Amino acid sequence: MNNRRVKATWAITVLVLVAAATARTDGLTDMELLGKFLFYQGISTPGSMACAVCHGPSVGFTGPDAEINKHGSVYRGAVPERFGNRKPPSSAYATFSPVLHYDPKKGFVGGNFWDGRATGQHLGNPAADQAQGPFLNPVEQNNPDEKAVLEKIKASSYGPLWQKVWGEPLNLDTQPAIDLNYDRVGRAIAAYEASSEMSPFSSKYDYYLRGLVQLSPQEQQGLALFNGKGRCASCHTSAPGPEGEPPLFTDFTYANLGIPKNPENPYYRMDRVNINGKPINPEGAHWVDLGLADFLRTCDDPARRDKAQESRGKHKVPTLRNVDKRPSPDFPKAYMHNGVFKSLEEVVHFYNTRDVPGAGWPAPEMPQNVNTAEAGNLQLTSQEEGAIIAFLKTLSDGYTP
Ligand code: HEC
Ligand code: HEC
Repeated sequence: MNNRRVKATWAITVLVLVAAATARTDGLTDMELLGKFLFYQGISTPGSMACAVCHGPSVGFTGPDAEINKHGSVYRGAVPERFGNRKPPSSAYATFSPVLHYDPKKGFVGGNFWDGRATGQHLGNPAADQAQGPFLNPVEQNNPDEKAVLEKIKASSYGPLWQKVWGEPLNLDTQPAIDLNYDRVGRAIAAYEASSEMSPFSSKYDYYLRGLVQLSPQEQQGLALFNGKGRCASCHTSAPGPEGEPPLFTDFTYANLGIPKNPENPYYRMDRVNINGKPINPEGAHWVDLGLADFLRTCDDPARRDKAQESRGKHKVPTLRNVDKRPSPDFPKAYMHNGVFKSLEEVVHFYNTRDVPGAGWPAPEMPQNVNTAEAGNLQLTSQEEGAIIAFLKTLSDGYTP
């Protein structure tokens, strides 16, 4: 896309987003409403790029652009020639992830991002930490600093709401005030992400768990396979928690599934785009996504750095809620950290046959640490693959019985 088209697309996107943001406000607390505004408001340099440009409600708060999903699956930043390296996961249900920690049995658990680097250590919630990132990330919203973000918020029409939520007007006079208020931005966005609007637990499966509807025989068979022969539930938790909490379809652990590279990932070209004289991706086409290891090797704690080798290629287990949510049945979505798969059929067939000789899957992006215990040769028939997909389709929010 050329810059003019990018701008035009944004202008339209922003209009649609503002309409969406002003339409449904019922049932939200003032804090959630403030978070909603910060999520949909274009706060970027240049332009007016909002979180929702990469996390759209019509697709379950992941990437809403059909063309991008069909190809590289990575969304361009506010500076249009800049691209990050991964596909946007859903921002819904992200607030339920625990603070990143190490469990002797499960390995690393929790955090936000595919590699867990929004740990939750700063604000006590990974999604609140996460929400402070994109505004300042040079390949995303690219604002120069926290103060610039807060100035844009101060200049918006949401001043009175800010004051109502935090009990004082937005003050940027001193660095401590800036730090405090930038933390409040993270907290408000996380509150919206956890709200009944972004994380409503309103799928057909939720109604089923509450005993309000029945699954079709095919969906029921898919659920049994998901929990049994398909082994999906060993990572994508499908049963309610001890207090009856609805399942999140992730146990927040990390695994390397041997996902192939997505050759169309625009990050491979980011050796030619510089920020402050340095290429965004010095390794160019040879870059390999190390996932969790990318984060661990930057940690101060030597106990974490020591675990980097065994974590190469591992990515956080994503929620499967809304995995099939799309504005129309033929609307393309992309799956996995690099968006290499384009349909649920492809995903389930990969789990089923990755290690079957002659199945023809490309080599893994990172051949170390591939999980062969729970995936790769599941011996599912094509009818059984279809049943699992039918079950996955019951996880879209907004079901009306
Ligand atoms: C240019 C596209 C883009 C924009 C703008 C953007 N994101 Fe993201 N988001 C991503 C990508 C890509 C990832 C995954 C990055 C990674 O894992 O390294 C991500 C990850 C996340 C996650 C982690 C989910 C999880 O389960 O780990 C949350 C939550 C999130 N974004 C919320 C936001 C919020 C809030 C904003 C605005 C302040 C925002 N995003 C702006 C692309 C974007
Ligand atoms: C060993 C743990 C594990 C098991 C077992 C497992 N998954 Fe996953 N799943 C993951 C991880 C980790 C990812 C992300 C991998 C990546 O992007 O590199 C993922 C990604 C996915 C995605 C893509 C979601 C998205 O938003 O991109 C779908 C769909 C999915 N799994 C469905 C299933 C189904 C269906 C099964 C059973 C047949 C299954 N999974 C079994 C760990 C697991």
